[in-house]
Amino acid sequence: MEMIPLDYNYNDFDFLSEENLRNHYEVLYKGYVNNYNKVLEDLKFARETNNFTNIKCLEKNLAFQGAGAVLHELFFENITPNKVEAKGEVLEKIEKDFESFDSFKNQFISNITNIEGSGWGILGFSKSIDKLIILQAEKHQDQTIWDFVPLLVIDIWEHAYYLDFITDKKAYAEKMFDSINWNVVEKRYKNL
Ligand SMILES: [Fe+2]
Repeated sequence: MEMIPLDYNYNDFDFLSEENLRNHYEVLYKGYVNNYNKVLEDLKFARETNNFTNIKCLEKNLAFQGAGAVLHELFFENITPNKVEAKGEVLEKIEKDFESFDSFKNQFISNITNIEGSGWGILGFSKSIDKLIILQAEKHQDQTIWDFVPLLVIDIWEHAYYLDFITDKKAYAEKMFDSINWNVVEKRYKNL
């Protein structure tokens, strides 16, 4: 897996410091991608040598590093420093499934500010009920639904906001909500 490039600069978000975004991208995200690739290699080596003594540890690490790498890729892609409004088919679906865009926003912000400990707020589509739903992912890999396709991902790990917002998760959540690139969310939705 390769890191995705950013189509904005580290200092483009007026509510995030350059240090925050640089550290988040170059240290945290890079670490997950490198470790994900490493554990894939370790699993390949385990298969080649037919030695699965450490399989439990490897599988746990695969889920942790893989989920971290994938969620950071989705997150960095679905935010933008330029104001982009929700529109088109994804807006219509949000209004249908959450009654209104405002009630969706209230639920989404409430969701990510009430995650126990570290985690992610994720808007996605559940094929089995043909609806958009919002899930909380504690850490990276817990509370997942395997047919859940992430459309919009917000990082609510402490490293994403603490430098700029200290403990004010709600202020961070609201600013980040206004930074969503709905063009990307719409594209993901159309590609389902
Ligand atoms: Fe992060």
